Amino acid sequence: MMFSRQIHSCEDARRLAKKRLPWMVFDYMDGAAGEGYGEVRNRQVMQDIRLQPSVLVNVEHRSLDVRVFDHEARRPFGVSPMGMCNLATPGADLMLARQAARYHSPVGVSTVASTPLEKMIEVAEGHAWFQFYFSGDGRVVNTLIDRAQVAGYRTLVVTVDVAEVGRRPRELKRGFKMPFRIGVPQFIDFALHPVWSLSALARGKPGMANFGGDFGTFDRTETRARADWDDLDRIRDQWKGNLVVKGVLNVADAVRLKAAGVDAIQVSSHGGRQLESAPYPILALRDIRTALGPEFPLFYDSGIRSGEDVLKAYALGADFVFLGRSMLFSLAAGGQKGMESMWDIFSDETSIAMAQLGMDSLKTRPTPRVPEGLGYS
Ligand SMILES: Cc1cc2nc3c(=O)[nH]c(=O)nc-3n(C[C@H](O)[C@H](O)[C@H](O)COP(=O)(O)O)c2cc1C
Repeated sequence: MMFSRQIHSCEDARRLAKKRLPWMVFDYMDGAAGEGYGEVRNRQVMQDIRLQPSVLVNVEHRSLDVRVFDHEARRPFGVSPMGMCNLATPGADLMLARQAARYHSPVGVSTVASTPLEKMIEVAEGHAWFQFYFSGDGRVVNTLIDRAQVAGYRTLVVTVDVAEVGRRPRELKRGFKMPFRIGVPQFIDFALHPVWSLSALARGKPGMANFGGDFGTFDRTETRARADWDDLDRIRDQWKGNLVVKGVLNVADAVRLKAAGVDAIQVSSHGGRQLESAPYPILALRDIRTALGPEFPLFYDSGIRSGEDVLKAYALGADFVFLGRSMLFSLAAGGQKGMESMWDIFSDETSIAMAQLGMDSLKTRPTPRVPEGLGYS
């Protein structure tokens, strides 16, 4: 049973996803580093930030278009790269790719996507960005970069906040591993979630589709602690397209990345999945915008749960915003229709909030009201 008609907010999608998914899969998606308060607190800080309304402005015609690099996205948000999306529902990656094609909004294709990178860019009609992780020895990176180039990707996203995979106790408790290891607790878990389990059986259990055969293997949990600025320089030399560095929260790092010639920075705490005590990413965005000046392209993800959150990220300095778990929850809750509902909810909420703010486009930034004392130095 799919629940797309019951989705009216991100929290609806999360609640329905929790019902439908095996605990192991839900905890993989929903989980965060440590006790999870880093992720929760960032969302509370997002709630504390207010937006300044403006009345009696003619905002009858509003546009959600935003320019990203050299093209016009028809929504001010896209989808952040996420590994193993097909765990949410069979075919999830391709559903996201089709949505990207329809709205010209980028979909991130993870190194550990459950659909091959070549297929993703084809179905997304070019609106896919390839994300890669360093591997322990650096070799996988080169192979993947070459493959992405040949496949026609024009934007590469290097995720730099995973020197080690964060400790996520909810994942560990459930014994989440890729590929799955199925012991008694997992067997019971799957048996208690038959809708998900039967569809996974029918469509084949998802794997890391960019690997296997000639392309070797990838250990999602291996250390990447050796990667350094020299590796980034090498990638900058090798990759001729747009280079985005994702997972930055430190102003000094951002200044150095700009000097190193990257084309954009994605401010992100990986949705609170890496460092529980990290600075709140939404405030780091503001500080990095101040340090880098108004022109440098800055993207944002982490904790976006509504259209008003999207606008808050623009208010604090983002030039584009990416959605994470909200998309997975809606896919798990209602498949393609659930995801489309969630997408429409984000669109409607953004557009309606723009009307209250007196904005007819995102060419100007909304005005934020940040309570005194919320920042840090
Ligand atoms: C299940 C899951 C898998 C993820 N996999 C990746 C990944 O492979 N590469 C990556 O750069 N980020 C990955 N992320 C992080 C997202 O790109 C993004 O930073 C985060 O989900 C945004 O926060 P939000 O979920 O609160 O919206 C993953 C996040 C989740 C929830």
